[in-house]
Amino acid sequence: MPLVTTKEMFKKAMEEHYAIGAFNVNNMEIIQGIIDAAKEENSPVILQASSGAIKYARINYLMKMVQAACEEAPNIPIAIHLDHGPDFETCKMCIDAGFTSVMIDGSKYDFEENIALTKKVVEYAHERGVVVEAELGKLAGIEDDVNVSDADAMYTDPLQAKEFVERTGCDSLAIAIGTSHGAYKFKGEAKLRFDILAKVKELIPNTPIVLHGASTVIPELVEMCNKYGADIPGAKGVPDEMLNEASKKGVSKINVDTDLRLAMTAQIRKVFAEEPQAFDPRKYLTPAREEIKKTVQHKMKDVFLSSNKA
Ligand code: G3H
Ligand code: 13P
Ligand code: ZN
Repeated sequence: MPLVTTKEMFKKAMEEHYAIGAFNVNNMEIIQGIIDAAKEENSPVILQASSGAIKYARINYLMKMVQAACEEAPNIPIAIHLDHGPDFETCKMCIDAGFTSVMIDGSKYDFEENIALTKKVVEYAHERGVVVEAELGKLAGIEDDVNVSDADAMYTDPLQAKEFVERTGCDSLAIAIGTSHGAYKFKGEAKLRFDILAKVKELIPNTPIVLHGASTVIPELVEMCNKYGADIPGAKGVPDEMLNEASKKGVSKINVDTDLRLAMTAQIRKVFAEEPQAFDPRKYLTPAREEIKKTVQHKMKDVFLSSNKA
């Protein structure tokens, strides 16, 4: 089927209490690994690219690969989404290039500026049948070194979320409930503010909610990377059980990048360490692609519960 927006995907996910994985892509092997997983699990899927990923892959190549994915998986709903659009121009470029969904990330601005920017993108996108994700609240990692009262201020305020959605007309909203980007999310125990999620869902029940910074930082993959020469100590992500709870409690889109980076790197490092004579890229990119597939399949089936929802 042709590329879809996330509208129908999210509607069904909210009705049936599961989440859709949004996986960051920047090359062919990553796209193929994700699509192979979606086909096997018969799951809807969102492919997303950041502005950095678009610069790296080049938008033309990216769109052609995504179109190839649709042809290869005719029964799977696939959306292509701009992740963390930094400004109106980048959103416009992606909309004009055929993206079905864009994120405008105005979370670095104050409330009113975020609203104004998001509204501008919503207007341009909606006229062209494209949907918009916005963000309210700040995702801080442990490396940001915030103190407790700062941390409190960073969580999304549910009342503001309601006002924000009403005033901008955005289609989905990314909220801050304790997740953060990258491999170092928590110093001690992982903790998510499910009370904030519940309040947001109560106030805006029909708005799909998005969780960024939601990689598990899969311990086996970190260990494997480290075993074969990496230096990634003390990495910690959001445990599967919490993501599973979030999927059942109204989070409709769960963003994953770090786990795919780890999956790919672990397998490539293994080949390099065990077969130093190998230099054919297919030798290490084949197991890397396979590990991406395995990682994505696990999330769809056991964590997000999106298997057989295509
Ligand atoms: O949230 C950010 C994503 O992990 C994309 O990262 O900007 O390095 O491509 P990137
Ligand atoms: P992770 O770094 O936890 O994979 O988060 C990815 C993300 O939020 C992309 O927008
Ligand atoms: Zn993100």
